[in-house]
Amino acid sequence: MSAGLRRASRHQEEKDDEVPQWIPGLGQDKPKPRTLGTSFFGYVPDAFVEKTPYLPSEQSADALKKEAAVEPVKAAEQVADSLEQEIVPRDSIERNGQSAQNRLLIKGGRVVNDDMMQDADVYIEDGIIKQVGTNLHTPGGTRVIEAKGHLVMPGGIDTHTHMQMPFMGTQAIDDFYTGTRAALAGGTTMIMDFALPQRGESLIEAFHRWRTWADPKVCCDYAIHVGVTWWSDKVAQEMEELTNEQGVNSFKMFMAYKDTWQLNDEELLESFKRCKELGALAQVHAENGDVIKENSKKLLELGITGPEGHEMSRPEEVEAEATNRACVLANQVNCPLYVVHVMSKSAADVVSSKRKQGHVVFGEPIAASLGTDGTHHYHKCWRHAAGHVMGPPLRPDSSTPKYLMDLLANGDLQTTGTDNCTFSAAQKALGKDDFTKIPNGVNGVEDRMSVIWEKGVVSGKMDPCRFVAVTSTNAAKIFNIYPKKGRIAVGSDADIVVWNPHATRVISAKTHHQAVDFNIFEGMEVHGIAEFVVCHGRVVVEEGEVRAISGMGKYVPTPVFNPHVYGRLEERERANAPCKVERAPYEGPVAQLNGQGMQEGGIIPVQQETFYTRGAQVNDKSPKRPSVKVNNPPGGRSSGSFW
Ligand code: URP
Ligand code: ZN
Ligand code: ZN
Repeated sequence: MSAGLRRASRHQEEKDDEVPQWIPGLGQDKPKPRTLGTSFFGYVPDAFVEKTPYLPSEQSADALKKEAAVEPVKAAEQVADSLEQEIVPRDSIERNGQSAQNRLLIKGGRVVNDDMMQDADVYIEDGIIKQVGTNLHTPGGTRVIEAKGHLVMPGGIDTHTHMQMPFMGTQAIDDFYTGTRAALAGGTTMIMDFALPQRGESLIEAFHRWRTWADPKVCCDYAIHVGVTWWSDKVAQEMEELTNEQGVNSFKMFMAYKDTWQLNDEELLESFKRCKELGALAQVHAENGDVIKENSKKLLELGITGPEGHEMSRPEEVEAEATNRACVLANQVNCPLYVVHVMSKSAADVVSSKRKQGHVVFGEPIAASLGTDGTHHYHKCWRHAAGHVMGPPLRPDSSTPKYLMDLLANGDLQTTGTDNCTFSAAQKALGKDDFTKIPNGVNGVEDRMSVIWEKGVVSGKMDPCRFVAVTSTNAAKIFNIYPKKGRIAVGSDADIVVWNPHATRVISAKTHHQAVDFNIFEGMEVHGIAEFVVCHGRVVVEEGEVRAISGMGKYVPTPVFNPHVYGRLEERERANAPCKVERAPYEGPVAQLNGQGMQEGGIIPVQQETFYTRGAQVNDKSPKRPSVKVNNPPGGRSSGSFW
């Protein structure tokens, strides 16, 4: 058990009779799985009751077709024989949490998906979920995790991290090892990191550099978003290669970090158009870098050099303006948009209202914006204040986290990341005399699940299904890796967190698994602990102890033209396609322009016989638009409805 982990607090034990209805199986004896002789395929009544519907992938559909072609009984006998030969004594089970046969049964818990909860066991083989239901039959040598009283949920997906990122003259201190190990400790089994090229640098080279850093170190699975940090034809061409050959389906554009990564509106528009052509998802860091630059200069001139200057230089409306601009630009070119790190009420309101207008836009608040606030920038201790510096900043208003959580709970915001980008005290001190030099970034990858459970579920804002949606399933859908990820179902990856909703712990930098020496949630008591975490079928957290192995995680390619994103977008584009107004050609006089584009011979007086119509002439496609009566139309009268 980790030092910071404290099981079921006294407060919790006293209140056990008030346990919410969704907390599973307390006091109820569940039937034990029945075993019939030695044959795995012996007939068991009810064995397939309550099984999760099968969600076939293309590959598994092919495998199923082949399987169906073999005579079922014979096939069953062959498999049973081979299984019986494989059985090994229980004491040969490796203690690193991995069964010798890669077989694992999570027994007696309550399975929670985004759309349903059921009391069910989960059987895993070779990293894949093979059965979900009751009375499951498992071969000998299967390791069993008792999950009674626990929730069995898809492992978390953190949509936004920056492990070991070179940034602002230094490099994030949590690397792909410490960062992903910490992720697992908190119940997150997949991260999505950003490969960010320097201005002028090849996107593909940056992508490969990130892969080289990540592959030997990652303890959990990961995907990569790529930053479009400058614009050129080469960038456009590399985006195509990344989508076609490297499994990248999302690109982040920056509206801040002027003079380094910031794109202007024209470049933004080009990059959105390119994303649309490629079937990718455009992401934006929505802040106005020009305004920030101007404000920072003024503040420094006033002698405001501390971390509070960071927050003052980029007030809420600076984020809201950029969020609105990004939504408008993306919508104008029919590009789906994902707003990363939504930090303020007004930016969240923009996302929410654009969604109501039909825009295909998604919003990602982060653990920091949901769990703490920007009043810390005004703390007397410089290190404490600087520890909270990130962009867009935490807002100095204690009601913001609750507001964002409400929007997340009701569906206006969809996913949760962390923007985990950590710097030690000494690294933050690069900006001790100038807030613009404080490396931007905070922690979160380890604590995201607990913070959202505490502030979202324990507060009564969301139920466990919505918790699963916002911590895992929605990310899997939006980045097109569902139901491989984000679901407990037959055929899905066995990335699972066995969640103890009763246990509490106090978050602290002293006990966390991250390399950074500071934690923005320091002292926060949270319910909900990842007691067991299974990643690819391996038990990587056991009763709070992390047993992760570096390099164990895999790169997860994310395919383009995601139906969860593009399905509606394509229909919407078709439905809203501009259409021409059919009209008789204009046959009246036309002003003559001289070489300078000026009208020759002064203004031509309006003649009686010219036919100008007034009022709305744009193609608003409204059938109710008042018709304009013209007495003597060119080309004579027509009996058609147009005139
Ligand atoms: O402060 C932040 N957010 N640091 C990481 C870089 C980014 O903008 O996401
Ligand atoms: Zn950003
Ligand atoms: Zn970021």
